[in-house]
Amino acid sequence: MADGKIHIFDTTLRDGEQVPGCKLNTKEKIELAIALETLGVDIIEAGFPISSPGDFESVQEISKVVKDTTVCGLTRAVLKDIEVAAEALKPARRPRIHTGIGTSDYHIKSKFNSNREDILQRAIQCVKWAKNFVDDVEFYAEDAGRTDNEYLARVVEAVIAAGATVVNIPDTTGYCLPHQYGEKIAYLVNNVPNIDKAIISCHCHNDLGLATANSISGVLSGARQIECTINGLGERAGNTSLEEVVMILKQHHTLGYYTNIQTKMLNPISRQVSDTMRMPVQANKAIVGSNAFSHSSGIHQDGFLKDSLTYEIIAPEEVGADGSRIVLTARSGRSALAHRFHLLGFQFNRNDVDTLYAEFLKIADRKKEVENEDLQLLAKTYQAVPA
Ligand code: KIV
Ligand code: ZN
Repeated sequence: MADGKIHIFDTTLRDGEQVPGCKLNTKEKIELAIALETLGVDIIEAGFPISSPGDFESVQEISKVVKDTTVCGLTRAVLKDIEVAAEALKPARRPRIHTGIGTSDYHIKSKFNSNREDILQRAIQCVKWAKNFVDDVEFYAEDAGRTDNEYLARVVEAVIAAGATVVNIPDTTGYCLPHQYGEKIAYLVNNVPNIDKAIISCHCHNDLGLATANSISGVLSGARQIECTINGLGERAGNTSLEEVVMILKQHHTLGYYTNIQTKMLNPISRQVSDTMRMPVQANKAIVGSNAFSHSSGIHQDGFLKDSLTYEIIAPEEVGADGSRIVLTARSGRSALAHRFHLLGFQFNRNDVDTLYAEFLKIADRKKEVENEDLQLLAKTYQAVPA
């Protein structure tokens, strides 16, 4: 297999920040950019410089502080956008301009009131213009997920010939099924003669909950960059979640793919993004949710206590999580109860545990979760009763 390095393009500060209520100021963006560089992302999309003076300033300041990571600014296929992005990116050691235009008939007809030929020419023009300012130009074909493959291939070939170093194939509306998205990438690999001159990028939205699956399908078909966000934040139902794709590639390392991500930072950075953006992470979120390493049913707890691999495919420390948790509820079993008593310093034999278990269930039926204090009281009351 060719080089299996997958470039991680983080767009938390651009697509992620588009979430209502998640607006960040420049100081917050700089702090997150520094954390993202330490995490090991290859590209930070820092913002959309022409959109507001605040975003211009953020991209400029991030360009000053980020050392080795590529800093990217978004533009429309508008010459002025590109000039403004180039200005904001001037201090960056590795600047990238991300420019593009809608290529689906929905966009061409309804948004631009235009035609395919005209859009193709605009795509070429914006890439050529961006090349006057930076070497690294990424082109996005917005709504590529619903773009006719033959036309998409023509656009991709033309923008690569114009100098694009990366071609982004966004499933902007989260429409594609994984096999369809994979086939789209494979179509480009097989039908664009100069495709070896550029990296193919996946940018998938989560409207049907398929963003992660689609990105992985894209990689399996030849894409070598994934655009993603911490906690899967992004427009509407969000973007591909960085922590998910990174851990999928790590877990399935036999496929031959790898990233530069320091996985032990995944939980800390998830919390940092959640706190800074004031956007809670759902408890059952893969990798970074508070329940991602919690075991609640008796059958699972018993298996987990015998060997954690029975119910955990990732060790919590590998992703910087606090550790596995055995949650005591009315669905828990005797082994979890005995284990917790042991941790609390009580030594009970099997008969004791049987008796205590009946009392435990009464508490558990009243409460969502039985706490250590409940068990300490239960144990002391039990010990106080003469045998
Ligand atoms: O979803 C999308 O198509 C985008 C582009 C601007 C890259 O975010
Ligand atoms: Zn997007």
